[in-house]
Amino acid sequence: MKAFIFDLDGVIVFTDKFHYLAWKKMADEMGIYFDETINNRLRGVSRAESLEIILERYEGPALSQEKKAELMEGKNNTYKELLGGMTPDDVTDEVRNTLAELHNRGYKLALGSSSKNAKFILEKVELLGAFDAISDGTNITKSKPDPEVFLKAAEFLGEKPEECYVVEDAYAGIDAAKSAGMQAVGIGDAAGYGATDKKIKSFGELLTLEE
Ligand code: G6P
Ligand code: MG
Repeated sequence: MKAFIFDLDGVIVFTDKFHYLAWKKMADEMGIYFDETINNRLRGVSRAESLEIILERYEGPALSQEKKAELMEGKNNTYKELLGGMTPDDVTDEVRNTLAELHNRGYKLALGSSSKNAKFILEKVELLGAFDAISDGTNITKSKPDPEVFLKAAEFLGEKPEECYVVEDAYAGIDAAKSAGMQAVGIGDAAGYGATDKKIKSFGELLTLEE
């Protein structure tokens, strides 16, 4: 194996809780029921698709495309306010040291995130320089479970898909990795998903993956 492609939210940083809080605020304002179980369905899914999942429980009058765009913008503003408070301390030493050690061992490292805020987040936590390539919500047309974001990451790195590991917390991300022909490593929520090739309990276990 030559490379690692990492999901961001729920793998490198725990911004998944901020996504939840921002969507929760919108849902509460609209009188829509929303909880953490529904939130798990939003992992790895684009902003627009996330909104549609939340609106499955909406019972009011039909919403125009303009109104939906407004709702997404409002959610993203709340989310970015929450991100604004992030600092390098929001990345654990375990994550930072593991990334550095994988690099030392000669692996190429890429980010593979559906988020359009990925670079902003990596700048806040001072981790932009840790990756050889960034594939994110700004360079894809289809989000996970479509493999596009990971295939682009492999292409940016100049590596073959079958020589890449993908590290993911989302079921949609594991499915995307498998469709891309990559090795899927599940962590967090995805560690309980049958489709993963390998499961890890903590990030540092990536160093012993090939033992
Ligand atoms: C990640 C998260 C999803 C989020 C998506 C888009 O994949 O896991 O929950 O919906 O990014 O994020 P964005 O920051 O562009 O709204
Ligand atoms: Mg994730």
